[in-house]
Amino acid sequence: MCSFIPLHASVYENIVEVIKSDGPLGMDYSNYGSFYGIMDQFSIALHKKHLIPDLIPMTGMKEKLSEGIEFLDVGCGSGFHACELGL
Ligand SMILES: C[S@@+](CC[C@H](N)C(=O)[O-])C[C@H]1O[C@@H](n2cnc3c(N)ncnc32)[C@H](O)[C@@H]1O
Repeated sequence: MCSFIPLHASVYENIVEVIKSDGPLGMDYSNYGSFYGIMDQFSIALHKKHLIPDLIPMTGMKEKLSEGIEFLDVGCGSGFHACELGL
């Protein structure tokens, strides 16, 4: 989680400018040099252990996933979660 502090600090000035000019519309992820790498490390560390054994049973999707349903992964980082579910 601490990896996010220098990541956000590195684009602080960009965020200030975006808020001044566009309001709270957000800033393109391309402004963050290493966003996806850090996000991926964070997600893997946080979710790898619990995604399949704990989280999926809570969704009621375990049987459907086992049967081989199709799903769409949009806006979900590197695709780590989809790859885990596909194993
Ligand atoms: C904070 S990351 C979380 C990624 C993933 N849920 C994880 O835990 O690793 C947010 C994700 O949303 C995607 N995203 C943000 N705005 C989007 C948009 N307008 N359309 C599609 N994807 C978007 C980003 O590219 C990024 O992959």
